[in-house]
Amino acid sequence: MPARVLSGKAIADEIKAEISAEVADLREIHGLTPGLAVIRVGDDAASAVYVGSKVRTAEELGIASEHIHLDEDTPGRRVIEVVEDLNRRHDIDGILVQLPLPKGIDERDILERIDPEKDVDGFNPLNAGRLAQGYPALAPCTPAGVIEILKRSDIAIAGRHAVVVGRSNIVGKPMAMLLLQENATVTICHSRTQDLPSITRQADILVAAIGRAGFIRGEHIGAGATVIDVGINNVSDISAAESLFAPEDIEKRLAAIEKRGSTLVGDVNPREAMEKAANFTPVPGGVGLLTVAMLMKNTVSAAKIRRGL
Ligand code: GUN
Repeated sequence: MPARVLSGKAIADEIKAEISAEVADLREIHGLTPGLAVIRVGDDAASAVYVGSKVRTAEELGIASEHIHLDEDTPGRRVIEVVEDLNRRHDIDGILVQLPLPKGIDERDILERIDPEKDVDGFNPLNAGRLAQGYPALAPCTPAGVIEILKRSDIAIAGRHAVVVGRSNIVGKPMAMLLLQENATVTICHSRTQDLPSITRQADILVAAIGRAGFIRGEHIGAGATVIDVGINNVSDISAAESLFAPEDIEKRLAAIEKRGSTLVGDVNPREAMEKAANFTPVPGGVGLLTVAMLMKNTVSAAKIRRGL
């Protein structure tokens, strides 16, 4: 039987409806409008799309948002000044610096300057440490979204073996911490892991956050597994596309390559995952949509905590 497809859209819509209702209550009862500032430096095309979607979603939900776009050659110290101005502003509850930053700016220098109470991406080392130690913390949005998908799809986490492939600060490490907090048994694999398939096949929950198109194949997936695909990659090669997509999907994908030059694929081979897994998140239409919804959720949480509600 093919895998059950876990729709990110349905779950993201559900979360956004909850947030929208909460924002309306905050306004009516407390006269409060949460405020989100998004800083983008330079002209990375994917970042422009992501930031556009974040700002638009904030507006849809009644969250005040501000998009600050700085030139590619802005020095790191200027970015820090902008962050510190936002730290001081009472109307701003959430600050996000879109990554990647241009070469020459050290990400860490910037992220550690964001007020931890306004750090809606959860990338400040203080929040990463709080998460690791099980304190309440603003958690990174993509892994937090994965937990929501699992819970809202009634997939048990406690006691299950979760295998995370990838050890980035944005996804892999916080994902492992959140799964641990939910009482999973957690294994983290990475580029130096030996005999990866023998480990990933043991996973009840397999999270792929590697950054390589279609890297996780059927041989990596055990029977009955839930496979969560966090990757977002572009494929422009037709023969690569033919080995990745199911026959019923291939025509649409080839048409996309023809029209736009590429099509989106995650870190998992979707054709093989649909054959082997019990549950699978598609790309596009899976985890990506949750990231933005969880950013909104973090912004509302930050607003409530900062303002003592
Ligand atoms: N770049 C890729 N993913 C993310 C994210 O979740 N937040 C930010 N700020 N930048 C990113």
